Amino acid sequence: MQFVNIIEKKADGLELTEEEIRYMITGYTAGDIPDYQMASMCMAILQRGMTAREATDLTLAMMHSGDVVDLSDLPGVKLDKHSTGGVGDTTTLVVAPLVAACGGTVAKMSGRGLGHTGGTLDKLESIPGTKVEIPMERFREIVRENGVSVIGQSANLVPADKKMYALRDVTATVRSIPLIASSIMSKKLASGADVIMLDVKTGSGAFMRTVDEAKQLAELMVSIGTRSGRKVRAAITDMNQPLGMSVGNALEVQEAVELLSGQIPETDPLYEVCMILGSSMLELARLAENEADARRMLKEKIQNGEGLARLRKMIELQGGDASYLTPERMNELVAVKRHVPVCADRDGYVVSMMAEEIGETARLLGAGRLKKEDPIDPAVGLVMKVRCGAKVSTGDSLAVLYVNDETNLEEAIRLLKASIRIEPEYHKPNPMVYGVIG
Ligand code: URA
Ligand code: CA
Repeated sequence: MQFVNIIEKKADGLELTEEEIRYMITGYTAGDIPDYQMASMCMAILQRGMTAREATDLTLAMMHSGDVVDLSDLPGVKLDKHSTGGVGDTTTLVVAPLVAACGGTVAKMSGRGLGHTGGTLDKLESIPGTKVEIPMERFREIVRENGVSVIGQSANLVPADKKMYALRDVTATVRSIPLIASSIMSKKLASGADVIMLDVKTGSGAFMRTVDEAKQLAELMVSIGTRSGRKVRAAITDMNQPLGMSVGNALEVQEAVELLSGQIPETDPLYEVCMILGSSMLELARLAENEADARRMLKEKIQNGEGLARLRKMIELQGGDASYLTPERMNELVAVKRHVPVCADRDGYVVSMMAEEIGETARLLGAGRLKKEDPIDPAVGLVMKVRCGAKVSTGDSLAVLYVNDETNLEEAIRLLKASIRIEPEYHKPNPMVYGVIG
């Protein structure tokens, strides 16, 4: 087989065989296929697309490029969730312990990534002592004892994706839907869960800017997962404003703890998205008969505190100080030098937000990384005081910045102001959920 002929075939818009796809991934991971040929192939895939069958073969080939985790010795149905990345998205810290409290087994491996704020791992590490780099055997013990653990991905999980993502990043091919779907699903399949719940974000703060693109990605990922023998569903949810009110690391843990303590109303978007994700997981795992049943179970685990108890136990078993996990004690972890309100400069209605810029504001304050090695300040970030649709008067607080290092403060204030549009007329905000696939 000559790889140049396989590139040509894809460039002509033809369907690749499983053998050709396996040859490509094995060869590229081993270094036998050079970057320039793979770059050309990624561009051909971006322009010509892939069938669901090709994307599934690509996903499986990538999955087998490294460690494949076998969770079959753990009791019960193994569940995982994945979000394509949003601002103020702390759903994992809520849903994982709640689903465990309802009888599910949640052995979750999270990626580190370069977000505006840290990812789930950075949020966990904002609780003193908590470790996320844990040996596989210890991880299994924790899951066995507590039903839930969230740790970092092992270094050798889908090496083909690490190499391909770095290449895509510098060849303008990140946005190819089959390449995104296979990148995400190869890591999910390699992590070993039977049930995978996907949260595909769409809007100003998401990878997928339009609902139509998000639907295409969701459909392809569900198809790949189902063809690979897993139970997969995807919710398409709004990211035209932060999901929760808090954007930051300890700040988002605090919001999760508040939700698990029953202090956040059911009408809250974060609460609702947690219910959608959690109830789908319980249904897919047959731990609940139907959605209404599943929601009832989740609500009960909030009201009786069992969800929070699972999170606390998980933190304790991962070496952390779980005594911080009350809404009040969390105040100690979000203590900063200054709280700086950002205020409305006119009367009117909040008609839109740029969620990405709001995430960027938190990063400017030190909540996220620009480079992999950058340190994170767990306490800083911001708390939104309004959502889209809110009526505001001049001088009302739109958000409060949590600040330690003032180096970028002026820029942060300017950026946050620019990312919240206030107009005289009310506009109906976007729906929270656009649909569920699978
Ligand atoms: N997230 C991933 O893991 N991979 C992509 O390609 C895009 C988003
Ligand atoms: Ca996330």
